[in-house]
Amino acid sequence: MLSWDEFDKDEGEEASKGATATQAAAAGIDKLDNAGGVAALEARAVTADDSEAVKRAKAALDQLDIAEGLAELEGSAARVAVDEKRMINCRADLNQLVPFKYDWAWQKYLDGCANHWMPQEVNMTADIALWKNPEGLTDDERRIVMRNLGFFSTADSLVANNLALAVYRLITNPECRQYILRQAFEEAIHTHAYQYCIESLGMDEGEIFNMYHEIPSVAKKAAWGLSYTRAISDPEFNTGTVETDKELLRNLIAYYCVLEGIFFYCGFTQILSMGRRNKMTGVAEQFQYILRDESMHLNFGIDVINQIKIENPHLWDAEMKEEASQMILQGTQLEIEYARDTMPRGVLGMNAAMMEDYLKFIANRRLSQIGLKEEYPGTTNPFPWMSEIMDLKKEKNFFETRVIEYQTGGALSWD
Ligand SMILES: [Fe+2]
Ligand SMILES: [Fe+2]
Repeated sequence: MLSWDEFDKDEGEEASKGATATQAAAAGIDKLDNAGGVAALEARAVTADDSEAVKRAKAALDQLDIAEGLAELEGSAARVAVDEKRMINCRADLNQLVPFKYDWAWQKYLDGCANHWMPQEVNMTADIALWKNPEGLTDDERRIVMRNLGFFSTADSLVANNLALAVYRLITNPECRQYILRQAFEEAIHTHAYQYCIESLGMDEGEIFNMYHEIPSVAKKAAWGLSYTRAISDPEFNTGTVETDKELLRNLIAYYCVLEGIFFYCGFTQILSMGRRNKMTGVAEQFQYILRDESMHLNFGIDVINQIKIENPHLWDAEMKEEASQMILQGTQLEIEYARDTMPRGVLGMNAAMMEDYLKFIANRRLSQIGLKEEYPGTTNPFPWMSEIMDLKKEKNFFETRVIEYQTGGALSWD
């Protein structure tokens, strides 16, 4: 057990400190705090017990210049004021989390943490029995399970890599970065969940994880997403010009509005529909937890995009709006093709035509969430139970209304 007494045992040695303070000043290690400098110098004095390695470590620290080290951190010279904080191209110190400017980002971080779950908590026993029973599922139902595990097992890695290797560095706000770190961990949990399903069901792992190379309807969605991360994941890439700021905005629209906002919805609907029919309930429960996380990722992304538009209205010109709208329409088309490939016939009370209506309904929502015109007028939602599962209170983003209610822990139910 630690005892604070250890830290007070030098109390009787005050007399020697005057001389040591002078030495500390001379050594330049008390630039920020004289008392700390004295203590550091005493602690660093070479003793008879020190090995050569310890002596070298102590000597190396004599060269450490605090002021020089801190100067390398952007804008670190001052305390941060709220109005200096900006979503992109911010010059204020990014290591100072508070004061908050974007309370909604911090709230989403807290909500995400409150929803923590792990794949092993879900019971897969019934799924294993059903999957291994030759009479358990129809071929069309098996196709849906296989294709969706194939798509999602790599899709969440694409999202995580885009966050960690590209977006994190370019979003210059600490409370948003805090949420991005939480989201990145959730993406790791999602990939873990798919791996856990694949392993539990005894599937051919090579076949499933390679679908994004081998199955055209899966490969096209992955390739579309990857095309938007290429430029900004270059370590040399930086924002700060109209063109590069727009490139980041395109990436955020591609990943948050299309990948997480459209490409996940056919598969989620199919698997959750299976769970509602009491089939593959463990896989469906995993997907339900994932969907709960994903609806928050999506809404965080939409808030970030809208905040960038507010702070940089010149980026949101007619050309950018047209491009953003086209991206959402392309994504919708690819997801419609995926629906047809995964559902060649009616299955689980749904078919590709109903899914097409649902995807157009979702696309209208994505367009209007970032301030664009709906392109599929009059479309209605053929799967209202999906909205209930997601809980529409959570689907709201900051610019519509604040999230006021959030579930913490506890089991999900199929009501
Ligand atoms: Fe995910
Ligand atoms: Fe996500």
